[in-house]
Amino acid sequence: MSIDWRYPERVSTTLPGLVRGATFDDFLFAPQFSVLARRDPRAIDLRCAFTQHLELKRPLVSANMDTVTRSAMAIAMAEEGGIGVIDRGFRSGEIAPQVREVELVKRHQHGVIRTPYTIAADAPLAVAAERMHATGVGTLVVTGSDGRVAGLLTTRDLRFATVEGAVVASRMTPRDRLILHTGPLDSADAARQMAARKVKKLPLVDTDGRLLGLVTAKDLLKHAAHPFATRDSEGRLRVGAAIGATGDYLERAAELIRAGADVIVIDIAHGHSVVMDRAIAAFRARFGDVDLVAGNVATAEGTRFLIDRGVNAVKVGIGPGGGCTTRLNTNFGVPQVQALVACREAAAGVVPLIADGGVKRDGALVQALLFGGDTVMLGSALAGTAETPGDIVQKRVVIPESSRAVQVPFKVFRGMASLQAIVDRLDVEDADAADVEALGAEGMEISVPARGSVRPVLGDMLRHLCSAISYGGEASLADLRHRFRENPSRYVIRLSEAARRESFDR
Ligand code: XMP
Repeated sequence: MSIDWRYPERVSTTLPGLVRGATFDDFLFAPQFSVLARRDPRAIDLRCAFTQHLELKRPLVSANMDTVTRSAMAIAMAEEGGIGVIDRGFRSGEIAPQVREVELVKRHQHGVIRTPYTIAADAPLAVAAERMHATGVGTLVVTGSDGRVAGLLTTRDLRFATVEGAVVASRMTPRDRLILHTGPLDSADAARQMAARKVKKLPLVDTDGRLLGLVTAKDLLKHAAHPFATRDSEGRLRVGAAIGATGDYLERAAELIRAGADVIVIDIAHGHSVVMDRAIAAFRARFGDVDLVAGNVATAEGTRFLIDRGVNAVKVGIGPGGGCTTRLNTNFGVPQVQALVACREAAAGVVPLIADGGVKRDGALVQALLFGGDTVMLGSALAGTAETPGDIVQKRVVIPESSRAVQVPFKVFRGMASLQAIVDRLDVEDADAADVEALGAEGMEISVPARGSVRPVLGDMLRHLCSAISYGGEASLADLRHRFRENPSRYVIRLSEAARRESFDR
């Protein structure tokens, strides 16, 4: 059963006034009578809508930034029940690297692999080894020119093999020693058959022996290990991909969709613009009803503008981001809570909102979700984790108390409109210095301490969100959002400067 995010809007007339000029650290919520015995994310319903068509079990989205989301982050986000959006921070005209990141996510786990990688029996073993390396896939189905299955070749078959001069047929497990299934099969039936017949790979064939698909025990185990994962109808992880609104954006979108991206995000700094108008029209004309998110906006007018043009979700946030200097440099922007309330009024019941930026502590998550977001996009909160792209650099840090110097591992986090990110995206060989200076950076680059995997970070966020639902007196995220929207003044406390210090200065 899908969740009801289109709840009727009964915005209190007091809320827009209360939040004007305000953001996360301006508020606390008053605790309510708790109805939850356990605050366990495995037991509490956190379902939410990412777009009109795409539901998530957890409301967390990793930002399309080149120091946050590539395939490793997108895989972790989707396995934990959220979704990642692969950034477009590759050089203009370089579409293949972004497509590859999408493919890595889509191929990470399957129910039934519909188009397994194949190889011919007479192909050199060196070619098979190279294909395994390039695709990161450890099993190749050996097929004839007619598509009939001739055998299976796995990494184990190549271990200790002399690759030079040998062909696939010499090392593969031939068809007569394989267990095959004739006809289509769903993953649950496949799991039963594979357990009963004690096989780790089950090729599916038609009645003529032609390859229909492949099921692997590894995939089935991954499904069991991640019960909240965001998957498509074929059991693959879902992933989003960002494009711009000019240049190669349509060609990029075509390739990303072909690679299996589940949702495309047209992401530009100012989404309420003539550039966006043209981009959405061209996107819809070419790709029909492919799931489309657009942004960013921070006003009711901006939200209505995007909804009128037929987007499936709106990304909200002008300037709250951790790596962002838009407000400093241009003085334009809207405090994020004010933006969320205004955009929610314009969007409720039509499209979901993605609250993008400004979440610096876990307590802000529930605010982003109650004030207006259906999901929350995170950048700096995930920075420095092992799944973010980029190398670790050791830096010398002096401990003030002892004046002792230690080496601390750091990773780079930067705004997508920082000069460094822009220059990396340009073909600098062709850009003269004047062009680079004229770019008008609206972001900055900082070093953040490198930490371990993002998964415990997400786990803490979800536990804190569940605790917030308990304090809020409801049993699920959707229920708390309904109750909050019905009567926000029962929750919302606007803080004095002293109360803000008492709450958040530690
Ligand atoms: P957090 O606060 O989670 O925000 O780091 C992530 C969001 O920040 C936005 N972003 C930028 N905004 N200049 C901007 O004005 C930039 O260089 C920049 N880079 C990222 C973006 O919306 C992201 O999701």
